[in-house]
Parts: sequence; structure tokens; C-alpha cells
Amino acid sequence: MKYEEGLIKIFVPDRQKLMKKNEIFLNEHKKFDRDLNVFLVKALKLKGKTYLELMGASGIRGLRLGKETKAFKKIIINDYKLEAVRNAEKNAEENKVKIESMNEDAKKLLSNLNQGVDYVDVDPFGSPIYYVRSACLALSRNGVLSITSTDTGALSGTFPKACRRRYHAVPYKTEFYYENGLRILAKAVIEEASIHDIALVPFFAHATRHYFRIYFRKVKGAKETDELMRMINYLSYCPDCLERSIGLKEVCGCGKKRVIIGPLFTGKLYDISLVKRMKKSGEYEDFFDKIIEEAGIDVPWFYTTDSLARKYKICEPRMRDLKCARTHINPKGFKTSKSVKEILATLPQ
Ligand SMILES: C[S@@+](CC[C@H](N)C(=O)[O-])C[C@H]1O[C@@H](n2cnc3c(N)ncnc32)[C@H](O)[C@@H]1O
Ligand SMILES: [Zn+2]
Repeated sequence: MKYEEGLIKIFVPDRQKLMKKNEIFLNEHKKFDRDLNVFLVKALKLKGKTYLELMGASGIRGLRLGKETKAFKKIIINDYKLEAVRNAEKNAEENKVKIESMNEDAKKLLSNLNQGVDYVDVDPFGSPIYYVRSACLALSRNGVLSITSTDTGALSGTFPKACRRRYHAVPYKTEFYYENGLRILAKAVIEEASIHDIALVPFFAHATRHYFRIYFRKVKGAKETDELMRMINYLSYCPDCLERSIGLKEVCGCGKKRVIIGPLFTGKLYDISLVKRMKKSGEYEDFFDKIIEEAGIDVPWFYTTDSLARKYKICEPRMRDLKCARTHINPKGFKTSKSVKEILATLPQ
């Protein structure tokens, strides 16, 4: 199959002709995610850096970053499938992008690295959490770590036991469950690094389709790590009246018992000035506008117009009447630091 994306043309053998274990993974739906990755690296204005893609598959992400940005002097693409590595090498040659290829298990590769890398990408099937501790050690000062997780079921409340095991947190199916999931993942990543006095500070994130993606910057120091850890908290949520707050509040103002969610990261997920620079790419303007809006509201949740309407038996409020920030996660979602009571009071009668 031939496939073009950005400035890259790649070729992967047809899936039907291969045994499952030899298939080379290529997800065309992830174009959006890779486009954002390119815009982000451009906006960071990196120069002469080393990029390590731990799970490269066809190599498309690294090849795009190599061709479409001027950030990297060295691009290392790894995969534990030999077929994938050979394919990435061929695609690199066809596109005239210089890469170093590796064929190792990601954890083994990281533990054997004897030099710091400036950017590590972790894009496995499922959870990236297993690789975070060694990835953050392999990163150089101020290095960037990007992670993808398709483990959204565990993170967002469908499989709470798996969430507890992997992320040491309790999720819940709120109306903002994808934001919960994103923030539980961020907290688990931060904790993996914190034991080494490393602060992995999030600066861009998105929950798209069925995956989460978060970008972190490595900052070394106990003080910086403590500061970041202060933003790890529980949420208390009332399924009866939909009120919520940061911290452990067992009983709601309405008299019902609240659900305790987390712990999760309640701090900032975005560097707004970076997002504004990414927006200058001229693509996905509405998406970037939503991110800029939500990043301006300092609460780790959102409300949705349909859940308010259902719960309070009112007409579904219109977004423009609410005059609130939107969120990229849900078209019916809005962010505000107001309580449910305050929101209801602002609605036209
Ligand atoms: C989701 S794909 C990566 C997609 C790629 N980053 C992209 O943007 O198209 C996951 C890849 O990770 C590889 N993989 C899974 N576990 C691995 C491990 N422990 N070490 C190295 N590679 C691994 C798989 O062979 C597969 O090619
Ligand atoms: Zn309540």
C-alpha cells in the first residue's frame, strides 16, 4: 500500500499478504496527531537535536519530523519487529531522510543508552506507562517526552481495576471522563519521574478518537518536582447534582454522597503561547481555538449541555448562551469555574 502524508510518501506491504505477527502498523487516522506533532516541534524552534522514536513501525512519524522540521540532526527509529525496521529504513531511503534504525525491545534500548537524547517518543499499543521511568532517565536536560496511550478504557472508567493497577488511581464515568483519563495518565507519568527528582511538566495534550497524547518537558530538581506534585489531587464528584470540587469532600452540599476520583493531575496541561504558535500553521484552527479557550480556565473538568439538561429536566442550553470556554474533547462540553448552581442561574428562563 502506498500512502502519502505531509511531505512523506511511504510504502507498507499489504496487510492481507502478511501474517499478523509480521504486519507493519500504519494508522491513517493518526494523520491529525502526527500533523500536530510536526506543528509542535516547529513551534518549539528546536535545532540540532536527537530524536528517538521507540516504537516506529513504518517510520512515518520520525520521517515527517525529519523532513518537515529543522529540529533534528539525528533521528533514531526503533521497533522490536524486524520487518518494521526494514520497512522504516526503506521509507527513509525513498524520502531521502537520514535515520539510524534499531531493532530492540524499547526497555532494553533505553537501559543501554549511554548518552542523553533530546526527544523521546513512546507510541505503543496500549499503555506507555511501562516505558516512562527509563525514558525520562534517557532524556537530556529540558528534553521532550511525548507519549500516546490507547488504554482509554482503563483510564476513563470502563475498567477501574486496571486503572488502579497501572496508574494507582480510581477513575469514574463522569461526563468529562476523557479529561479525567488524560489527567490520571499525566499524574502517573509525573509520579514515575518524580522518584528521580525529575519533573515531567506537561505542555500540550489531546484526547482524540480513542487515544490520549501528552507532551512533557523534563526539568531536573527536587523543588521543581515538588511544585508539580502539589498539583496532584483528588476530585470529589456528585453524580446526583453534578457539583464537583478539588479535594476530598465526602458529602455533597445536596446531602448525597460524593464519588472520589483520582488522584489525578489538576495543573496546567498547556503552554498557551506554544499553542498560539502551533495555530499559525493555518490548519485545524477550530481545534486550536478550543484548546486556547480551555487552557484559559483553570479547572480540571468540564460540564456538558446534554448532561445538565437531562439531570435538571431543562432545555439543552446553547453554547452561545453559556458564554463559556469550549473544550476540544466534547462538542457539547464547556469549561467554567462556576458551580452547577451558578451555571443554572445564568441560563435564560
Ligand atoms: C502504534 S505502533 C507505532 C506507530 C508509529 N509511532 C506511528 O506514528 O505510525 C506501535 C509499534 O510498537 C512496536 N512495539 C510494541 N512494543 C514494543 C517494544 N516493547 N519495543 C519496541 N517496539 C515495540 C510494534 O511493533 C509497533 O510497530
Ligand atoms: Zn450533590
